[in-house]
Amino acid sequence: MSKLMAANWKMFKTRSEATTTITELCGKLNNIPSDRQVLIFVPFTAIFDATNALDKSVPLAIGAQNFYPAKEGAFTGEISLSMIEDVNANWVLIGHSERRHVLGEGLEFIEKKASYALENQFNVVFCIGETLEEREAGKLQDVLKAQLDCLSRMPSNINKANFAVAYEPVWAIGTGKVAGPAEILEAHAIVREILKEKMGAQGADIKILYGGSVKPDNTAEIILLDNVDGVLVGGASLQSESFAQIVQA
Ligand code: PGA
Repeated sequence: MSKLMAANWKMFKTRSEATTTITELCGKLNNIPSDRQVLIFVPFTAIFDATNALDKSVPLAIGAQNFYPAKEGAFTGEISLSMIEDVNANWVLIGHSERRHVLGEGLEFIEKKASYALENQFNVVFCIGETLEEREAGKLQDVLKAQLDCLSRMPSNINKANFAVAYEPVWAIGTGKVAGPAEILEAHAIVREILKEKMGAQGADIKILYGGSVKPDNTAEIILLDNVDGVLVGGASLQSESFAQIVQA
């Protein structure tokens, strides 16, 4: 399976900063191994500049970090999928822990967004992960099951090319505390089982990314683990040099 090396820039970078980073990255990535796919989730205001800065010979896709699941309408402050398509992006990030825990998005709304994105031919990275309290209370499996329950109700076009799961333990995001190999193996094995249970044979081919304090010096070890099909990187993706090292680790 190819590896999906994804970046989430969160609320960082102006248009000119995004252009510089994408241009630098394309320069550093023009010889990446053919089994690496690169994807960057950019803030809305910089998507157009980011897609314009792409070098077509580098397999790098641009996505949006959020959207509202309706065609158009009275949704003040929201952005639709056709607006995102209009600036040449075709991936969306759904269920990120900051959307769940800081912005208050619940299971039902997240499910609606995932269905809507797939129905509208967008590609999805669907994030899941437990908090420290949930892990310490022995609820890892239950939490992942609840977050992935919606998979049995997704549109029938869901497949390994348009949908990937990112397992990101909340306690490892932006904290510098990366989950250890044993913790990653355990969680990814649980996710794989749930994917197979919900999606049948197809569940074996859906990519599962790991996210949470991924850095250039821990990527190689992480992506070699069973059921790890890529990474989702926040902080260490902001500098072109460190993200280029991660992509090529
Ligand atoms: P981090 O963020 O790499 O800074 O921990 C990961 C994420 O939020 O996706």
